[in-house]
Amino acid sequence: MEDKGLASRLTEYGDREFALYLRRSFARSMGFSDQALGKPVVGIVNTFSELNNCHRGFRELAEAVKRGVWQAGGLPLEFPTISLGEVFLYPSSMMFRNLMSMDVEVMLRAQPLDAAVLMGGCDKTIPALLMGAASAGLPAIVLAAGPMLAGSYRGERLGACTDCRLYWARYRRGEIDRSMVEQVEGQLAPTAGTCPVMGTASTTACLTEAMGMMLPGGATIPAVHADRLRHAEETGKQAVELARSALTPDRIMTEKAFDNALRVLQALGGSTNAVIHLAAIAGRLGIRLDLGRLDELGETTPVLVDLKPSGQFYMEDFHRAGGMPVVLQELRRWLHFDALTVTGAALGELLDEPYQWPAWQEVIRPADEPLQEKGGLVVLKGSLAPEGAILKRSAASPELLNATGRAVVFTSLQDLAARIDDPDLDVRPDDFLVLQHAGPVGAPGMPEAGYLPIPRKLAGVKDMVRISDARMSGTAFGTVVLHVSPEAAVGGPLGLVRDGDLIELSVEKRQLNLLVAEDELRARRAGQAPSRPPPARGYERLYCESVQQAHLGADFAFLRHESLQGD
Ligand code: FES
Repeated sequence: MEDKGLASRLTEYGDREFALYLRRSFARSMGFSDQALGKPVVGIVNTFSELNNCHRGFRELAEAVKRGVWQAGGLPLEFPTISLGEVFLYPSSMMFRNLMSMDVEVMLRAQPLDAAVLMGGCDKTIPALLMGAASAGLPAIVLAAGPMLAGSYRGERLGACTDCRLYWARYRRGEIDRSMVEQVEGQLAPTAGTCPVMGTASTTACLTEAMGMMLPGGATIPAVHADRLRHAEETGKQAVELARSALTPDRIMTEKAFDNALRVLQALGGSTNAVIHLAAIAGRLGIRLDLGRLDELGETTPVLVDLKPSGQFYMEDFHRAGGMPVVLQELRRWLHFDALTVTGAALGELLDEPYQWPAWQEVIRPADEPLQEKGGLVVLKGSLAPEGAILKRSAASPELLNATGRAVVFTSLQDLAARIDDPDLDVRPDDFLVLQHAGPVGAPGMPEAGYLPIPRKLAGVKDMVRISDARMSGTAFGTVVLHVSPEAAVGGPLGLVRDGDLIELSVEKRQLNLLVAEDELRARRAGQAPSRPPPARGYERLYCESVQQAHLGADFAFLRHESLQGD
């Protein structure tokens, strides 16, 4: 009997026919006919959760996927996995991305599926789904939640969470009062869907489309539009095609696809978090993502999309302007158009020819008249970040990009919370705020704490250089150096910085240097307290013992592809 559909991956009893007989009898208890049980099985990985507001519409969306699967002759079977609602997780959602990826991989491997629709959206979910599907090697297609609509307050458009930060900073500076900031709170996230700016969720959805793991146009359709349901139906149909093919994720997410993704990331001015997620997904497929390549591509990739937090528009505007197909067309001279997609066709075959740039809109710029000549993200290296650090140039203050400053050091998140607003803190506007022990192991979980608040005593100062081994929300902005690798908690030089040290930041030279004599650093290293022991048990222990550094994607070493296990 063919190892397909319900006949695949049978429980081991030592009697294959009995195992199938047993499985079919239980499958029949769900009311399916013999005819239905003989169809290709499409698993619908539904990450709905009442603790994930962004996925609020997933019940309806899953029904639309099922319509498509039935229409195309498949049997849709929906199942849940861990869901990660960005703001509902302690200590941080990043701590659980790898756990979710394991859940996805294991369930895709263990159940009798011929293909899967991966439903995700909120920041860590699409990366986790792709990591799991890449390792499972099952044909799969992504269906994103879609962005929420922007809100409004007194005539001003608002979007989580760029405007959360903007209004909170204004409140901290005393420019608005408590009641106003509370009124804004009710308007920041008005519908289902993911944050409506080019944050991490939107960036990863767009990169998924660019890598060919989603149907064209799917990254930007607002969560509440009827078009998203139609797109879900099409996704279901395509999943049945995938079930009949051998088009596994490794044939789509190739080196060329990752190269395309890095290029598109630069053109979007996208989230710094995407770099970590791409490195992790690539690592599952035996591909080493090279930070140097990201930087190199940035030099020849213009920023084309004018979205918050770097620009002015929201995802719904981006969608109306044509979304990712327009961006991909504008970048066509630089992209690998022969990269395969989930449709079975190459990326270039999916895009309209002849193509005309939609001149009636201002959200997407033509490649010859870009928003910025060079890409949004730069990679820094130097004595403070031997394995690299990331800075989002498009969201930074140009006058701070090449400077030397005096370090004001916070040794942990707790220290930061205790002292940042201390009236006696010795800090000046041109100082560099440094946060240690907020990386993958140090925090643990590498929270989005890299966007350190400006000390209250510097009221009126809008931006300062901030350096850490943490991440930053894709919806945030400022001159913020992130993902310093190796992190302080594993002996990285970031942990040796002391108050008053001078640090050189040179985006021009791509350098981040601690200007302290080697002898002094040696002495500091010798006098350092031993690193904290890992937690005694459970997932936290597994995490702290297995998580890799940011430049490798902060995946677990044992989950990377066999060929990269030695990294
Ligand atoms: Fe879910 Fe922003 S909180 S995407």
